[in-house]
Amino acid sequence: MKRIVVLLSGRGSNMVALAAALGDGRWPAQIVGVIADRPGAAGLQRAAGLGLSTALVDYRGFARRADFEQALREAIDVLAPDVVLLAGFMRVLGAAFVEHYRGRLLNIHPSLLPAFPGLATHRRALEAGVAAHGATVHFVGVEVDDGPIVAQAVVAVHPDDDEATLAARVLESEHRLYPMALRWFVEDRLRIEGARVRLLDPRPGETRLLRSDAR
Ligand code: GRF
Repeated sequence: MKRIVVLLSGRGSNMVALAAALGDGRWPAQIVGVIADRPGAAGLQRAAGLGLSTALVDYRGFARRADFEQALREAIDVLAPDVVLLAGFMRVLGAAFVEHYRGRLLNIHPSLLPAFPGLATHRRALEAGVAAHGATVHFVGVEVDDGPIVAQAVVAVHPDDDEATLAARVLESEHRLYPMALRWFVEDRLRIEGARVRLLDPRPGETRLLRSDAR
């Protein structure tokens, strides 16, 4: 059984999607803990409601980022995870933290990286006038929203989209993308080769690019 820890800061819809995908019991993996960095994170209550074990490491209780990250590391490592998933975790993590979890720390970001790292990705995609937007699951590197890409979901930008409609379409794709990428990790089918990730033994129809139906 692979042990999964999820870190979040907000509503936790990706965590719920991951838990649902794991819930069918056919994966050799389980979520052993969900940790938030702020008490207001709705995802923490949702995780508790799913019967998952939860913890809070409130970043506001620490004067220095290094101290917060040390406490976070301790909360994670006591759970002995094989993989740590950032799922709407809104803190930039330092190099020492990233290094500690190298190769077993994944993030989901709501854009087709390397386009639009950082915040407000949907607004910036609309402003840039792109026809394709989406989401990326990647191994975490030391730069923000950087690191070897595992898989991407592409969604069309519609002429009448606003930030909310585009965000909703991307989020729906995230809920399929993250479980797909996690499953490959759990099955030991991801190999990092420099800046790239190779999917080992791809099955028919399996690809690192997820497409939503274009309208
Ligand atoms: C998602 O859009 C994710 O890509 C980004 O933060 C958002 C988290 O949403 N990193 P949720 O908390 O999983 O609902």
